[in-house]
Amino acid sequence: MSKVTVVGAGNVGATAANVMAIREVADEVVMIDIKEGVSEGKAMDMMQTANLLDMNTRISGVTNNYEATANSDVVVITSGIPRKPGMTREELIGVNAGIVKQVTESVLKHSPNAVIVCVSNPMDTMTYLIHKVSGLPKNRIIGMGGALDSSRFKYYLSKALGANPNEVEGFVIGGHGDTTMIPMRRFATLRGIPCETLLDKETMDKVVADTMVGGATLTKLLGTSAWYAPGAATAEVVEAVIHDQDTIIPCSALLDGEYGEKDLCIGVPCVLGKGGIKKIIELDLTAEEKELFAKSAAAVHKTNEALPC
Ligand code: NAI
Ligand code: 2OP
Repeated sequence: MSKVTVVGAGNVGATAANVMAIREVADEVVMIDIKEGVSEGKAMDMMQTANLLDMNTRISGVTNNYEATANSDVVVITSGIPRKPGMTREELIGVNAGIVKQVTESVLKHSPNAVIVCVSNPMDTMTYLIHKVSGLPKNRIIGMGGALDSSRFKYYLSKALGANPNEVEGFVIGGHGDTTMIPMRRFATLRGIPCETLLDKETMDKVVADTMVGGATLTKLLGTSAWYAPGAATAEVVEAVIHDQDTIIPCSALLDGEYGEKDLCIGVPCVLGKGGIKKIIELDLTAEEKELFAKSAAAVHKTNEALPC
């Protein structure tokens, strides 16, 4: 029996739980929130789709009762406030650090062997905070941001190419921030054909720029941050772990010398499977990419300095 807990049954948490349930990523999905009745109601609503969707996952919801989350294989942390139009992810640190710390301690009391997937923003810093608070082996803490940013990169590439998004490959490394993420244009392909040979530089520059502010664009339209792609990207990460898929997904991982960085969580390509991060893939970056990565790392280090611990 596989079990996933999702902390925070808001927009992203509930969407992630729903996608995981429909894709039958785990046998059991538990949502937990501090708002009375919200997790219970959303779980009941989702369970009422079981016969419509031929879904076998058991979904439940609880308010503040961590006993119900016991022995989870994976715990996803989405609790905290999202950004509003005009706000950066970094501005959320004060409120979210307290929430993420308390939640990490609570989940680990009941699921000491779980892999933790951090979604709450500023995500790279919250992932780092979970390392500091928990002392868990570094492979067991995964920051979800690169999966989402890469999906947005592929979306904008597909639009520029006039292609089916499923034919496009591409990924984003670096921090999960408007100015820190690094869409890797050199590796983007349409069925193996380098996108740089299909799009002129100006178009490629626009794809990269649109990707970097992809979250802000949606926040402006929606009045709060997005949830469909964030929820689906979270489910992709959890699926790779629970089903031991050895999928390469860019995730925020604790670096210990890789990419010339230490004591920092930032987006790098990771092999995900049983136990969490099985391997960090070290790309041979060009001088320009190295400079972008160093700048991104410096910005994430700076945000980490604002942590209360
Ligand atoms: P939301 O406001 O819809 O949901 C957050 C939920 O967390 C609420 O239901 C709230 O009651 C709950 N919560 C607050 N404190 C809690 C606690 N101590 N224990 C349990 N639950 C608690 O927000 P949304 O849109 O779901 O975003 C959640 C977080 O995810 C935000 O920090 C947002 O910035 C971040 N995010 C990260 C992305 C990424 O790629 N890493 C993408 C999208 C959002
Ligand atoms: C997003 O990228 C704000 O992290 C959130 O949609």
